[in-house]
Amino acid sequence: MKSIPWLLLLCLSLLGSTECGITSQWDECGCRWDEWEAWSTCNSECNGRRSRTRKVWLYKDKSGCYFAFSTCATSDMGSDYSSCNTFCHNGGTSNSYSCSCVTGFYGACCGFQVNCGNPGSISNGNLNGGTFNYGSTVTYTCYSGYLLVDGTSSRKCELNAIWSGTNPRCAYYNSCSSGPCKNRATCTNIPDDYQCACTHGWSGKNCDVDILPPSLTNCSSDKYITTTKLTDLVEWQIPTFTDPHDFPIDVTANYLNNEFTFPWGDFNVSYSAVKPSNGLSTNCLFGVSLRPNPCTPINVPVNGALICNNWKTDYGQFCTFFCKESYTVPRGVIIDDFYVCGASGSWTPTNIIPDCSVMVTNLQSTTGYNIGPTYSNCSEYSDNRREMQEFYIEKLSQSDFSYFCEKFQEECIPENVSIQC
Ligand SMILES: *[C@@H]1O[C@H](CO)[C@@H](O)[C@H](O)[C@H]1NC(C)=O
Ligand SMILES: *[C@@H]1O[C@H](CO)[C@@H](O)[C@H](O)[C@H]1NC(C)=O
Ligand SMILES: *[C@@H]1O[C@H](CO)[C@@H](O)[C@H](O)[C@H]1NC(C)=O
Ligand SMILES: *[C@@H]1O[C@H](CO)[C@@H](O)[C@H](O)[C@H]1NC(C)=O
Repeated sequence: MKSIPWLLLLCLSLLGSTECGITSQWDECGCRWDEWEAWSTCNSECNGRRSRTRKVWLYKDKSGCYFAFSTCATSDMGSDYSSCNTFCHNGGTSNSYSCSCVTGFYGACCGFQVNCGNPGSISNGNLNGGTFNYGSTVTYTCYSGYLLVDGTSSRKCELNAIWSGTNPRCAYYNSCSSGPCKNRATCTNIPDDYQCACTHGWSGKNCDVDILPPSLTNCSSDKYITTTKLTDLVEWQIPTFTDPHDFPIDVTANYLNNEFTFPWGDFNVSYSAVKPSNGLSTNCLFGVSLRPNPCTPINVPVNGALICNNWKTDYGQFCTFFCKESYTVPRGVIIDDFYVCGASGSWTPTNIIPDCSVMVTNLQSTTGYNIGPTYSNCSEYSDNRREMQEFYIEKLSQSDFSYFCEKFQEECIPENVSIQC
């Protein structure tokens, strides 16, 4: 009776087959071998291993045939191994255990490519370039009316899976199209903004701030007037204020009309124009100086000293004279108190001071001579000089012209008396 063959467990022993040989035991036990079964699937996508097995049959009930795999086979006869998928993806090189990948690829089988991912789109512009792998380049461009700023217009995917540079921005570059610059200013686009180059007289971001003060023409120059009268009518041209920007102007003046009757002295005439729209103002200021007519210089007497006021000489000159010691004026010549020159510009009583031409020691008689005060030393800082100055002040204060001392008290002092010898 034929024994039923028993399916044995497959042996999954490791590599390293042992020497095998057909033994008599195999015959006795009726050992029988199946064909190898199909290879297992490769255990790896690349550089993998696979195995296959086969079945062993034996007659179990024969004496001495122990029911075990080893009864009919050595360990390497039940299973078989081989390498499989001995290749690498993407041009990588296999060295049977592992892959060395081409730059830009990675993974045990070089099956993965370095990818930087989508660097992202930008507002108001385009991302150009659809591959994001190692070595790929994308560029950015902006829509018309926008300008690429910040960041970089071109980015490259690096080996570390990071894009070079940074994303740019598309800035609005057409701000001038809305005409923000006023008053004929020139507009220049700048990213997200504009710049105005103003024409004369305008300022501010939009050139809409009026920075012109009123303009002035026909402002009179200073007037110097001499007159024979105590007061005189002075006329002038009214200045013209205009505004090139045509804003209203308010003008104020310190004299109501373009004429005024001034006394002797110094006066200011002022016109002030202000633009209420911007508060800027322009002034026309000129002086009016009214003086009596100037006097011609009077002579210094021979052998004498001419003594005059040295203050406010443009209002009036009051002179007297001394003769040098032992000199006097000719017989009959009167020594007048003061020779005066005022507004008329001419001297009274005469415009000639008599000379001290007569030596007193030679006089036969003093009859008919007018003897006045004398001096001996006219040098600067001499006592005589000081005495003459003091004498002059005292004499003037007691004369008909004392008002000239009263009116200018501060200046009516000996130091301000001039002496010419
Ligand atoms: C300035 O004065 C002159 C002479 O009077 C006159 O002809 C001219 O029109 C004046 N200018 C202005 C801007 O008023
Ligand atoms: C006139 O104006 C000038 C300049 O502002 C000033 O120095 C002077 O004192 C003024 N004169 C008079 C008389 O007001
Ligand atoms: C008059 O005297 C005063 C004081 O000494 C001096 O400041 C002033 O300049 C003098 N004036 C003249 C016109 O000499
Ligand atoms: C006049 O006075 C000055 C100053 O006091 C003196 O130096 C000079 O010697 C005097 N002259 C005569 C001639 O006395």
